[in-house]
Order: sequence, then structure tokens, then C-alpha cells
Amino acid sequence: MVLVENVVYLFHLLQIVRLCLASERFTPFSFNRYELEDYKNEVRDLFYFAFDSYLTHGYPYDEVKPISCVPKTRNFTHEHDLITNDVLGNFTTTLVDSLSTIAILGDVDRFAEAVELVDKTIPADFSLDVTIQVFETTIRILGGLISAHLYATDPTKKVYLGPSYNNHLLTKAKVLADRLLPSYLTRTGIPVPRINLRSQFQKIDYMLVSENNAAAAASPMLEFTMLSYLTHDDKYREVTAYAFKKTWDLRSELNLLSMSFNPDTMEIYHPMTGTGASIDSFFEYALKGSILFDDSELYQIWAESYYALSIHAKADWFFYNVNTQSGEMITPWIDSLSAFFPGSQVLDGDVADAEMKHLMFLKLWNTYGGIPERWLFSPPRDRGRTPVNVSNTVQLGWYALRPEFVESTYFLYRATKDVFYLNIGWHILQDLKTRFKFECGFAGLQNVITGEHQDRMESFVLGETLKYLYLLFDESNELHKSSQRNQIFSTEAHPMWLTPKMKEQYNRNKFMDHDIYFTHLEHLKKLSATRRKGPPSFQDKVLGLLKLTLGVENTDEELDDELSKTLAAVHHPRHTIMHGTCPVLPKDKKLTFYHSRLLNDFPQLFRIDHNYAATLIKPKWRQNAQHIETFPDFYYRWYDRRTSVSQPAPLTASFEFMLDSKHTHPLPVKPTKQGNVYYFPTLHGCKLRVERIMPGLIDTYGDYISPKIFKSLCPEDLNPGACGFVQPPQELLIMVAIDGKQFPKDSIFVTDYDDLFGPHAADMNDILSYNKKRQLLINCNIVANVYVG
Ligand SMILES: *[C@@H]1O[C@H](CO)[C@@H](O)[C@H](O)[C@H]1NC(C)=O
Ligand SMILES: *[C@@H]1O[C@H](CO)[C@@H](O)[C@H](O)[C@H]1NC(C)=O
Ligand SMILES: *[C@@H]1O[C@H](CO)[C@@H](O)[C@H](O)[C@H]1NC(C)=O
Repeated sequence: MVLVENVVYLFHLLQIVRLCLASERFTPFSFNRYELEDYKNEVRDLFYFAFDSYLTHGYPYDEVKPISCVPKTRNFTHEHDLITNDVLGNFTTTLVDSLSTIAILGDVDRFAEAVELVDKTIPADFSLDVTIQVFETTIRILGGLISAHLYATDPTKKVYLGPSYNNHLLTKAKVLADRLLPSYLTRTGIPVPRINLRSQFQKIDYMLVSENNAAAAASPMLEFTMLSYLTHDDKYREVTAYAFKKTWDLRSELNLLSMSFNPDTMEIYHPMTGTGASIDSFFEYALKGSILFDDSELYQIWAESYYALSIHAKADWFFYNVNTQSGEMITPWIDSLSAFFPGSQVLDGDVADAEMKHLMFLKLWNTYGGIPERWLFSPPRDRGRTPVNVSNTVQLGWYALRPEFVESTYFLYRATKDVFYLNIGWHILQDLKTRFKFECGFAGLQNVITGEHQDRMESFVLGETLKYLYLLFDESNELHKSSQRNQIFSTEAHPMWLTPKMKEQYNRNKFMDHDIYFTHLEHLKKLSATRRKGPPSFQDKVLGLLKLTLGVENTDEELDDELSKTLAAVHHPRHTIMHGTCPVLPKDKKLTFYHSRLLNDFPQLFRIDHNYAATLIKPKWRQNAQHIETFPDFYYRWYDRRTSVSQPAPLTASFEFMLDSKHTHPLPVKPTKQGNVYYFPTLHGCKLRVERIMPGLIDTYGDYISPKIFKSLCPEDLNPGACGFVQPPQELLIMVAIDGKQFPKDSIFVTDYDDLFGPHAADMNDILSYNKKRQLLINCNIVANVYVG
């Protein structure tokens, strides 16, 4: 008897456990650890889906095409197809760029396999006859190899490979770096943008190397300096750190650094700066380099450049492009790449401004379902007062699943622990599963206006986008628990760190041979600072660059003071206190449990929708898309109107009017009421308050007007020919108060036909009308909740 009871009891218990293990483990948007664990696993599955698909359909080439399931290769027939060939060097880019993601997932077997595959595929001497971009190859391949090597050799990591690993990733990194480094042998020490891994400059037109940008010229410093720490060969650091500082020397008196210049003459092509393409990682690496290498000089560069941007290029919600000489705005757009910047602001402790700048990109995602490569915050208007054509709101319309928005979301979540950011991650996860997933990988948008996809999956999708999304949900990742305070993510999201032991060994053993690079740097130091600017005077083959640099007769005996000081200072970095990868919550920030701080304590959450209502226009295919921050299941769970410190103020405009003051009533008009319907025998002489509503705003009642709600208020049939509407209406009117008394939300008002349109009301006829649904129209604007009985 007892036994049977126990069995029954056990059976019930098992049922309960089974239920709990199934869908009942968590309520969505509670964001408890089970829920986060689930999302984390979903991201991991998505990663392996696309990575395995690459191995099956793309390997040994650089990428797999997600829609057509064939390799995306370098353009072997047309070397001058730069857009393709700058990045795809036929060196299994997706494989190498994915290594550190697998390491973060903690799968030692898969990691060991992938590391071995790199060894089998990439030739040991890296002697590939490919002309590639120095910068892209550095961040994707060199950085990928170095980061994977750090993981493979760090006994505290899950994917530590132990003695079976023979350092081949580091060996390959060194060989590759040696093939890239000749690009620095210019008259200025600033690298040319491209090089051929086998033949250096023999096959390269001058045109291909005559323009470089601030990001590409300066950034390799970080990966190359890491390589110096790992190999103790100091030339990588010396050469690239020198270029970093020479690039900063190109700044204007306002401390604004031009994006585009000639690396050989330092001629500036366009005096424009900003935070996006062509300059992004310059700022990022000044800051991250200062953290990783404990380098106060780099921090100084970050601090000065960030301060200058804040003065000259900062609108409330974003940084824009300005003239480096005058500080005036140059272009009315921001680009997708600049979404990384809030992450760097977080690293520097400027969380409050990072939150604001990040919101701008959230609103872009709401609008376009991705971040268009270039969005115009002030687009040209078509004809006078007509609304802006949505096609004019983006200049470059693709969204290649770039990681920067997820990256900043991740950083802000680590700093604030606000569920607001988990909710964003959840939506991106759903979008990856439903909108971007194809047979063989993830395809971004070719055009956010049409919603058309592109048959491309760049290596950063697996290397960065999915990695940051995974880390957002993985509270307990070893990266988040590491005692290593100086770990950073490279600009390609490859984790890098230096242990005290590594630093100590480097300081004891570092060397710089008296080789070509040493001679070159010495020579640069002696070159006159008063170099003549203008077009290059030498042969237009870069082959000449090297000889010329070393062969120039030095007539100026004096060392360039500034340069030598810069170089000398590299050896004496001072201590900087930084937050590192895992910024801690500032002490003065109070934790609000069960609330999202942004939803409850941030009165400006919906301000952007209002300020940019004219240009954040949803394309047709997005018309019914929900906004991420007001997704009902999330919003109503985490927003509490009773307890919130700052309720969202209405963002709508309201106005009051009387239909006819001559008919003023001595007593208030008493309506009859049935449910939420109020019948007014007359509205004449009443003071009516009407609110203008549009999707994306907060209404008088503190509620968010979603596109869905708005649409439900729009009549199907707009009718009245005389008004000549554009369909669908951009805004509606809602009656909210009569004679100063506010009516409850969702009230409906009915009034008498004769009262408004009868003979005695003839004076109102040019203002008032009604549509087929008998909704009242004021000056052809629909008052959605007033009906003519
Ligand atoms: C590209 O790489 C593949 C695989 O490693 C190799 O078979 C092929 O020869 C390479 N193509 C060129 C033109 O280098
Ligand atoms: C290579 O470039 C040429 C010229 O731009 C282009 O017509 C061709 O489609 C490209 N081929 C591949 C495989 O990308
Ligand atoms: C908007 O611009 C696009 C592209 O210029 C054009 O094709 C389209 O007809 C325009 N739409 C309207 C309503 O003017």
C-alpha cells in the first residue's frame, strides 16, 4: 500500500518535473536564468547551423552564400574587383574569423577541430598571390589567429588545448604580419592600404594605394602590438604604433582628424570627420589599446578626440560628420558602423550618453528592420509640404547584418543590467530566426526600403554578430568572470588579454633587430617635418616606395623633435585605470528591481520618434512591425505607471477650440452614457480638446501609440472627395476633453447631425464634414472617436 502510494507520488512528481522542463520553465520576458539559458542555446544552435553550412558549402573558400549555398570566393578573374577582393584573400576567412566564437562557446572539441583545419588549409608561408587590404586582413585574419592562440594556450580557458597544440596559429600570425608589414615602408611611416601577400607592390597600381583612411592606417597597431607581446619581436609594435601617432598628427587645430588622406604625402583629401566608416576603429583602438597595454598616451588620444567630437560633432542622439577645420556639419547622415560608439563610451564610463546614442539605432531598427548603411536624419523634402519620400531617408540602403548595434547593446547590458537590452537581444534573435535565416546561413538586407535580401554572409556575422548576441545572454561566460581586468574585444570582436606573466616575459625579452624596419624608423625620425605637400613626385609605381624611402638623401640633420618624443614615449606608458571588458555598475546608480530603468526613469525614451517623425518613416513592408521597446509582452511587464519615477510625458500636440462661442451654454451639457459611448445632444458652445496622434508617440494617457493601434483607428474608407486625402493618413485626431473634463481613454462620442450640420450651423460648414463611417472631420482631419449620429 505504502509502496503504491509512493509510486503514484513519484509519478506525479515526474510529471511536474517534466512540465517544468518543457515550456513551463519560465515566463517569457521574466528574463530569469532559465530563459536566458534558452536564448543562449538558441544563439549557439544558430551559430553552428551557419558555421557547419560554411564548412559544407563554402570551405575552403572565404564565405558561403546563404541563399544559393555556393562558395563566395575572391574574384579570381578580376583582380580590380576591390569590393570583393579587399576582404576575401582566399584564406578561409569565415573559418578563421569564427575561431574565437567557438572558443567563447566553450566547445573544446569543435575548437580543436577548427584549429586543426586552419593548419591544414592555410599554407605555412602565407605565400598567396592576392592583393588585399592591410586593415581588413589584420582585423579578421591576424586578429582571429592571435585570439585563438590566446585561448588555446591559456590553461584557465575551457578550450585550452594543452601540449597537443604546437603554436601554429601564432606562427601563422607572424608569417602573415611579416607579409603585411612592408606596407608601412612609406615616406611617412603611415601604411598604404593594400599589399600583395606574395609580391608586395609589384602588381599594384599607384591608384590602389594612394588613399588611406584614419581607421585603416592606425588600427593595425592593436593586433601587431599583441603580436610583439607574444613573439617578443618589437618591430610589429614600433612600426604600427608610430603610424598610429602619425595618423593622429594629421588632426586639425580643433583636434578633429580627417578621414581620408594620402599615406605617402599626408595630403588630406577631404577635411571631414565623424564616428563611422573610415575612422571608427581609430577611436575604438585608442581607448582599447590604452586598456590592453596600459598605455596612457593612447588614452590621452582617446580623451582628446572624444572631447573634440563631443564639442563639435554631437547632436543629442548621435554624432554627425563635421568639417575638421571649422567644426561645421558637413553631411546630414549617420552610418551603420557608428553604432559601435556607445560601446566605447561605456568602456570609458560615459554610460548615460551611451544610452542615448544607442537609442537612435534602436529607433532605426524599429523603422527599417535593420540599420541602413547610411540614414539621412535630414533628408531633402520632395515638394514643399508633402511628406518626405521614404526612399529619400536612406542613401545607402543595405544592412549586411553588421554587429555594431548588438555590440553596443551587449556593452550597455553589462554596465546597467537593464532588461531593456535583453529585450532588444530577444528581438534580434527572433529576427535572425525568422527574417534573416536562409538555407545555408544568414542573409542581411540588400535594401531596407524594399526588404530584399542579399546573398552574402560576411565573416563578421559569425565572428561578431552572433558572438555578442550569445554573450548578452550568457551571464556566466568565463569572459565575464575573468580576473583579467585588461581584456578587450578587438574591433572584429576577437578577445585579447595580457597576463602579468606575459607582460613580464615581454619586458625581459623584447628585441628589435637592426633590420629594414629599424633603419626605416630611424630614418623617418630624421626626415624633415617640413615636407613639401602635394602630389607625389616619384614614379607612379609603388614598387618605388620602398627604395625611395630608404634612398632619400637626408639634408635635415636635426631630428624631428615631435616624432622622436612620440617614439620615446612609447616606452614609458603610465598607469591608467580602466573598466575593461566588464564594466561594473557605477556606485551611484541605484538598482531598480522588476523595472526597466529606461522604461521607467528615462523621460526621453520616445523623444526621438517625435523629433525625427518626418524621417523615421517605415517602408511598406515594415508597416505592421512592432517597436522593440514597446512590444506589449515586454512593455507592460517592465513598465509600471504607478511607481515609475518619471512617467512618459505626452509627446502629442493638443489644441482646444469651441464650435461657436455665441451658443455658450450657461450650464455644462450633460451627456448620456452607455458603456464607453457618450451621447452629446449638442457640442455647440462646448470647449473641446483634441489631440493629434501618430504612431510612435505617447498619448495624453501615457500610452504608446503603436502602429497597430493607430491602424485600428484609421477608417478603411476615407471617402470625402473634397478633402483629397493621401492614404493612409499620417495622423488622426482624438477628442480627449470637453469643457475641461478629461474623458477616460477609449471614449467614443456621438453627437447630433442637426447640431453640427443643421441650418443654424451653416457657418461651420467649411470647417466641418464627415466621412462614410460618419466620423467627424475638422479641416479634413479625421476625429477618430467622434461620430455624427
Ligand atoms: C584558393 O584556395 C583554394 C583552397 O585552398 C585553392 O585550391 C585554390 O588554388 C586557391 N585559388 C587561388 C587562385 O589561389
Ligand atoms: C568579377 O568582377 C567582374 C568585373 O567587375 C564581374 O563582372 C564579375 O561578375 C565578378 N565575378 C565574381 C565571381 O564576382
Ligand atoms: C519615391 O522615390 C522613389 C525613388 O526615387 C520613386 O521611385 C518613387 O516613385 C517615389 N515615391 C513617391 C510617392 O514620390
